[in-house]
Amino acid sequence: MELVILVRAFAKEVPDMASEPDLSHIPGPPAPPLVGHTIQILRDSYGFQQECIALYGSVYKTKLLGIWRANLCGAEAMEMALLDKQQNFSSKMGWYSLERLFPGGLMLQDFEEHRQNRRIMQQAFRASALNDYTKGMAEAIQLLIRAWPVDQEFRSYDAIKELTLRLGCAVFMGLSAGGDLARKLNIAFIREIRAALSVVRYPVPFTSMWYGVRGRTFLRNTFRQLIAERRSTPGDDFFSQMCLSTDEDGNGWSEEEILDQFNFLMMAAHDTTATAISAMIWALGAHSEWQEVLAAELDEIGEAVLTTDGLARMTQTEQVFKEALRLVPPVPFIPRRAISGFTWKGFEFPAGAMITLNPGVTMLSPVFYSDPESFDPSRFASHRAEEQAHKFAWTPFGGGAHKCIGMHFSTLQAKIFFAALLRERRVELVNSNGTQWQRLPIPKPKDGLPIRLRSVSSH
Ligand code: HEM
Repeated sequence: MELVILVRAFAKEVPDMASEPDLSHIPGPPAPPLVGHTIQILRDSYGFQQECIALYGSVYKTKLLGIWRANLCGAEAMEMALLDKQQNFSSKMGWYSLERLFPGGLMLQDFEEHRQNRRIMQQAFRASALNDYTKGMAEAIQLLIRAWPVDQEFRSYDAIKELTLRLGCAVFMGLSAGGDLARKLNIAFIREIRAALSVVRYPVPFTSMWYGVRGRTFLRNTFRQLIAERRSTPGDDFFSQMCLSTDEDGNGWSEEEILDQFNFLMMAAHDTTATAISAMIWALGAHSEWQEVLAAELDEIGEAVLTTDGLARMTQTEQVFKEALRLVPPVPFIPRRAISGFTWKGFEFPAGAMITLNPGVTMLSPVFYSDPESFDPSRFASHRAEEQAHKFAWTPFGGGAHKCIGMHFSTLQAKIFFAALLRERRVELVNSNGTQWQRLPIPKPKDGLPIRLRSVSSH
């Protein structure tokens, strides 16, 4: 019953869907009325997709959340739709379900409007700014990791989520990672993100949407105060950068624009980073020999580890990060909506068609990767470089105009995180049956990824 309500609610939110674009000529599995393939996709999105590709090829349709969607699978399809040379595809209309809580974010803008705002935000991600974040990030990470229990089992996914939010408060806003404001902001963020996917789509009192809208108000009020502060006394934090950022013509953002862009950015950064770090912990826990490889790399770099040169030398850590993202990409599907008709692989697609791209399953393709299901970070070493088989063979960060603006930031964060962790601790997985991943909406370990940390000295 809950699913039927969810499907109806989401279907109603899609703009201009009074008459759904005709996809009847596109092959696909038969769909039960109303819920369509929602249950199969939520239960096993990868398995269902692999089955469909085997039966229908790289273009097929499915009905998810009340709407028919054309699945355009593979690296070539991503190249076509994400580079979007003809300006056929809207990101804003693809990510429509985020509009209510995160309006005005970069992913909810298209073409010229998006280009202008991205140029302003890019300033906060330039190399010298990333360099400035390093010290604050390293201090906060060390503090937070040291608070994790040793020799005692705990659910690492929950701890990582808490850590990434607190880290966000420290690095993005220059607040104390352990402070009370960080705690309140965390609660507000969690409520806001939960509301974006809640069944009830209106703020009826005491529903997730109601808490989400209240969380959003609290966040906006807090950010509003911070804008005034940081504009007069900027710090090294990301928020100060966003308050000061301009494009090359000197255009910056109004207060309202900063609120929207920053709120969206925190959302885009948070769950994705938590999944990425969890995936890397999972992989390192299951392949403990790699913990020793990374620890030896850290020993070799020594005290220089937090310098630009030291971080650049963490090449094996970067390979493990890339491999973890290949196996468990935080964004396994990318939605778009066609704004004009187009042809692909001999099929005509009408304007208005919902499109799904599939970085997740593409990164498990044997066409690009040897033994694709196995954990093998060396496939990214320069002598193998399997990901270079196609420009879109490795796409955890998407591609084209909307390619993740936080890609270098999150690589830096992962390196600093694992440098802090592996200098003092080793990870043991607790669940002997192996962790299963729920892939949607953002992947998470079904068992919470229980682990035990051991101190390096007693190891
Ligand atoms: C491992 C972690 C991350 C992954 C896998 C990831 C993945 C992605 C992907 C796939 C997209 C493109 C979506 C699309 O084309 O529709 C994206 C966009 C974006 N990401 Fe990330 N992301 C990560 C971390 C971050 C972080 C740390 C930040 C901020 C500091 C961030 C900020 C953004 C923003 C603002 C966009 C929208 C860009 C635009 O539309 O121009 N992401 N991310």
